[in-house]
Amino acid sequence: MSVQILGDQATEERGENARMSAFVGAIAVGDLVKSTLGPKGMDKLLQSSSDMDKSLITNDGATILKSIPFDNPAAKVLVNISKVQDDVVGDGTTSVTVLSAELLREAEKLIEKKIHPQTIIEGYRIACAKALEALDKVSVNNADDKEKFRSDLINIAKTTLSSKILSQDKDQFAELAVSAVLRLKGSTNLDHIQIIKRVGGKLSDSFLDEGFILDKRFGISQPRKLKDAKILIANTSMDTDKVKVFGAKFKVDSTSKLAELEKAEKAKMKNKVEKIKKFGINCFINRQLIYDYPESLFTDSKINSIEHADFDGVERLALVTGAEVVSTFDNPEKVKLGHCESIEEILIGEDVMTKFSGVAAGEACTIVLRGATEQVLDEAERSIHDALSVLSQTTRETKTCLGGGSAEMNMSKAVDQAAANITGKKSLAVESFAHALRQLPSILADNAGYDSSELVSKLRSAIYNGMSTSGLDLNRGVVADMRELGIVESYKLKHAVVASATEAAEVLLRVDNILRAKPRTADRNH
Ligand SMILES: *[C@@H]1O[C@H](CO)[C@@H](O)[C@H](O)[C@H]1NC(C)=O
Ligand SMILES: *[C@@H]1O[C@H](CO)[C@@H](O)[C@H](O)[C@H]1NC(C)=O
Ligand SMILES: *[C@@H]1O[C@H](CO)[C@@H](O)[C@H](O)[C@H]1NC(C)=O
Ligand SMILES: *[C@@H]1O[C@H](CO)[C@@H](O)[C@H](O)[C@H]1NC(C)=O
Repeated sequence: MSVQILGDQATEERGENARMSAFVGAIAVGDLVKSTLGPKGMDKLLQSSSDMDKSLITNDGATILKSIPFDNPAAKVLVNISKVQDDVVGDGTTSVTVLSAELLREAEKLIEKKIHPQTIIEGYRIACAKALEALDKVSVNNADDKEKFRSDLINIAKTTLSSKILSQDKDQFAELAVSAVLRLKGSTNLDHIQIIKRVGGKLSDSFLDEGFILDKRFGISQPRKLKDAKILIANTSMDTDKVKVFGAKFKVDSTSKLAELEKAEKAKMKNKVEKIKKFGINCFINRQLIYDYPESLFTDSKINSIEHADFDGVERLALVTGAEVVSTFDNPEKVKLGHCESIEEILIGEDVMTKFSGVAAGEACTIVLRGATEQVLDEAERSIHDALSVLSQTTRETKTCLGGGSAEMNMSKAVDQAAANITGKKSLAVESFAHALRQLPSILADNAGYDSSELVSKLRSAIYNGMSTSGLDLNRGVVADMRELGIVESYKLKHAVVASATEAAEVLLRVDNILRAKPRTADRNH
């Protein structure tokens, strides 16, 4: 690029240089993640540069972007919107990144044709509104028909999972995720769904269990099963550190002193156990250690105890059993105990765990994931989590639309039609927006190894000829009816993708104006 040195123009050129480098950064990020898009997308192996032992395999856009340190400010904007998308909808992070990058690629061409960024922004805004209007029209709502809605959810789950590690077993995991989410009865609080990962077995050995499973077991020689459980959940230390401290200080010469201390200590422990017994419970769960002596006291009093439960486990257990975590025992009447119908030890793989059934929060459940390695389990958990987020959002916003590039092509058509109605250079920007939308089906086809230009033009003519349920069948490389194939996606997800991608493109188009007003002195040496 030639840079002129004279007058105001030079300032503008510098601004353009800066803008170009911002665009290049954003487009590079889009190119980086786009090969992971869709059911045939590739996984990425991420390797930590500081710790060579740390690596993970993923095709989750947000995970990839989070793991890579970008110093390009434009790239940071895209990383940010993918994060927002992840937080709000839980999936679609790759799509939003790719669409923003495509919008910027188009903007770059428009700027080369001397179209002002402000005009592009105006055009993109008009196009975005048209696209969202079309998306609204093309979406359907089956919320009133329970069976149809469930099948929508299953299809959404399958679509989400098909681009992830669970695609082999997607029917099973779709059922599992939908059952879990429907138990929530419209709540989006995924804390009620506990996910436990256990290395060993196959992914298809994973299952959903009603109730809550804690990765812990009862004390030695306590009954393995408990009915009508009244549970006190505590975070308290059952010893004081004195024995350890004094034990170290006095060593052998003062064994009698040590024995005395131990006696006092035992009395304290006993005292605490007595206080806990007053709650009228039959199960005591502590976040900290309980030790042998208090445990035997509990056993004698027909109270089952579980010690050293992890933070997450304790918090969720309190939530689902309706209990409060307590740390002092002086006011039993003020404490909320937890309840459930039964607690029993169960075997998962080779591990004994404790299952709480018939918990106060009837919606709670546990998904137990099995798999060959930690890495497989971690990626499976991310996939399941994405599916659960999207599904729970869909129980709120119940509209759905079609996948396989169908909704995008429908939006693209609507935007094209709107462009025909607009005069002036703005219309070029509107057309470019339509073109960017068509890149999504195109990338899907590329990733599946098909001739994308041929396939997408077939899809385009199908949709433009009014066959509005057409989309890409990426298993067979043909245009097919998405409704028939059950390739369904969440309306909310798609809406967020289009709206946020447009917003991000706009932010980056504006960045230019700021840079232009304050040219960077670093450009002096040109
Ligand atoms: C990321 O986006 C959010 C919401 O749009 C915004 O509030 C926040 O400031 C952004 N952060 C960065 C680093 O751009
Ligand atoms: C439990 O108590 C310890 C120390 O008393 C404290 O550091 C910790 O944050 C508490 N954890 C919970 C879950 O309450
Ligand atoms: C999009 O699809 C809907 C119904 O599926 C149809 O009514 C509408 O005309 C389509 N939009 C365009 C611009 O063709
Ligand atoms: C084109 O403009 C006319 C007149 O303003 C309007 O009635 C029509 O709906 C527009 N068509 C589209 C596709 O926006």
